[in-house]
Amino acid sequence: MKKVNLAVVGATGMVGRTFLKVLEERNLPIENFYVMASARSAGQKLTFMGKEYTVEELTENSFDKPIDIALFSAGGSTSAKFAPIAAAHGCVVVDNSAQWRMDPTVPLVVPEVNPEDIKWNKGIIANPNCSTIQAMVALKPLDEKFKIKRVVYSTYQAVSGAGVAGWKDLEDGLKGEAPKKFPHQIANNCLPHIDVFMDNGYTKEEMKMIWETRKILHNDEMKVTATTVRVPVFDSHSESINVEFENNFDMKELVSTLTEAPGVVIQDDVKNNVYPLALNAAGKDEVFIGRIRRDESVDNGVNIWVVADNIRKGAATNAVQIAELLISAMQ
Ligand code: A2P
Repeated sequence: MKKVNLAVVGATGMVGRTFLKVLEERNLPIENFYVMASARSAGQKLTFMGKEYTVEELTENSFDKPIDIALFSAGGSTSAKFAPIAAAHGCVVVDNSAQWRMDPTVPLVVPEVNPEDIKWNKGIIANPNCSTIQAMVALKPLDEKFKIKRVVYSTYQAVSGAGVAGWKDLEDGLKGEAPKKFPHQIANNCLPHIDVFMDNGYTKEEMKMIWETRKILHNDEMKVTATTVRVPVFDSHSESINVEFENNFDMKELVSTLTEAPGVVIQDDVKNNVYPLALNAAGKDEVFIGRIRRDESVDNGVNIWVVADNIRKGAATNAVQIAELLISAMQ
């Protein structure tokens, strides 16, 4: 197998460190490996595959050396500036920020859902929002079979989605300290506010779920609405998803469709209190689905409960899976 030169940009961050862990676990064929971050962490040592690597400052010259794939998780402004520089040098960037997701020239990819979109990349591939990724793994097989008409998302999102600072706000809040990252205390609280508010009264996180769902499922007309909520949970996002279909469906067929879907684990045995839980999903790569029941208020509707580790499948694992697809296309 051809080995690749791979860089992780934002390697010292929460998602960046998980990139290293997932790359190691999945044993990607890497020849030369580079870790990059801001000047603040230049010189810091990170261990990868039993070897120590020195963090380099990301600069305009970072991609002068031959790098095939760069996994970016260093914020939108860093991606805006440096992803085009990397791409111009022939590197393919898999970008975890929101910067390029809605650019019509940039594919937005969940490998279980729309791997074919990777083919039309021009040097940048966007990794979707964490809440969108797990929803797509659940909804794509249902859309294919029963044609989705409308989706209502209600999310219960972990503080790790807000990076190290979000995590610390919950830790400190549980000790009675005031929040620094969130606008209100997150400990013992639920904040219906993720990312900034937009003119239409939605938050940007909610709009990301709406826009990205349509782009990934290739349906600009799909009716989608969302309420995204930060909850006092360290890891894993939980989502209540209400779906209305164009077509009638058989419940058994719907459950077997989800059971056979790639990346999905069904946990649905309510008699024994079995359903997906944030605590159990943490550290895993699969998307867990349960509480599957007909929405009795409409003709063709279903309610599902979808849980996944937001840092792994919601960010790092998804990006590494994209890198794997790129590598197999190079063979
Ligand atoms: P650094 O540690 O040097 O600040 P998180 O989202 O968990 O806070 O992580 C953000 C990641 O993005 C970190 O690795 C951080 O590096 C990196 N980063 C932030 N700003 C820049 C920048 N201007 N150039 C390169 N890396 C950056």
